[in-house]
Amino acid sequence: MKAELEAIKTEALQALKEIETLDALESLRITYFGRRGKLTDVMKGMGKLSKEERPAMGKLSNEVRATLTEAFEDLTEKLQSQQREQQLETEAIDITLPGRKPAYGKAHPVMQIMERIEAIFGQMGFEVVTGPDVETEYYNFDALNTPSDHPARDLHDTFYLTDGHLLRTHTSPVQIRTMENQQPPVRIIVPGKCYRVDYDVSHTPMFHQVEGLLVDKHATFSELKGILTSFARQMFGDQTQMRFRPHYFPFTEPSAEVDISCAVCQGKGCRSCGNTGWVEILGAGAVDPAVFEAVNYDPDEVTGFAFGMGVERIANLQFSIPDIRTFYENDLRFLRQF
Ligand code: PHE
Repeated sequence: MKAELEAIKTEALQALKEIETLDALESLRITYFGRRGKLTDVMKGMGKLSKEERPAMGKLSNEVRATLTEAFEDLTEKLQSQQREQQLETEAIDITLPGRKPAYGKAHPVMQIMERIEAIFGQMGFEVVTGPDVETEYYNFDALNTPSDHPARDLHDTFYLTDGHLLRTHTSPVQIRTMENQQPPVRIIVPGKCYRVDYDVSHTPMFHQVEGLLVDKHATFSELKGILTSFARQMFGDQTQMRFRPHYFPFTEPSAEVDISCAVCQGKGCRSCGNTGWVEILGAGAVDPAVFEAVNYDPDEVTGFAFGMGVERIANLQFSIPDIRTFYENDLRFLRQF
């Protein structure tokens, strides 16, 4: 047994000299110290020794064990520090390099304008409501007093889908959806996307509108005028003038188109306003009794006012962009200017 222990010691110390990695060291450790390791095996034989032999062998085996344990520990430490140094070399971070700036995005100019419109009407007590882009003919036309044989349908170059569905041509269907689900008073604005078959410097097939609807026992045209004037002055400046021109919409009676004095030339006349000094910004009017009937409101009990504005048009008045299609070309050099 003594010889065996000595042999194990020399052999193990020799083997340690060849070890270069922590993994190899671990498997060598198992070869000697593991449950079926060489040293463990010899120790198990201890029980078979005579009483006289046992103390000396016990002492020797403890010595061998201690020597080897220390040798293993030394090597572990050495290999670990080697590994650390290597890591420091290969994974070095140069803390003197300038940092990289994160690329911040920001809201699209049309969204920025839409948020401002929402904020202005929000202060005047209007609640923001939305509706679906894919609509039925009923909500987009019929309920808005525009039956299928109505000439006004031709004015909307509608994208038709299947099964009587279409892409809404305006945000007005949300008037109907809201009144169907809510009793007066109503005071809402509806920001959202609209679609028409249209493509030129001032039209894109997808565009945005903000609809407004106000229904109450005694809503008056002057109230509408006050609200819209306040909106226009907050949006375009205190000097802004406003005029209502008679117009026609199937779902309002009377109806008006609303112009503001051109913000670019202060009403003197320039290219932006076609030398008229005025630019149209929205359509408006008193809710037609036929619309109230469609949603089971009693036209003798309530009156209402509605308006709808094109957001790209308003954005364009703020930013003077020659071709509004550039809003949707996603050229970052254009979008970063806002
Ligand atoms: N929906 C109309 C349009 O798209 C605008 C409008 C809304 C007019 C509400 C009157 C009242 O042209």
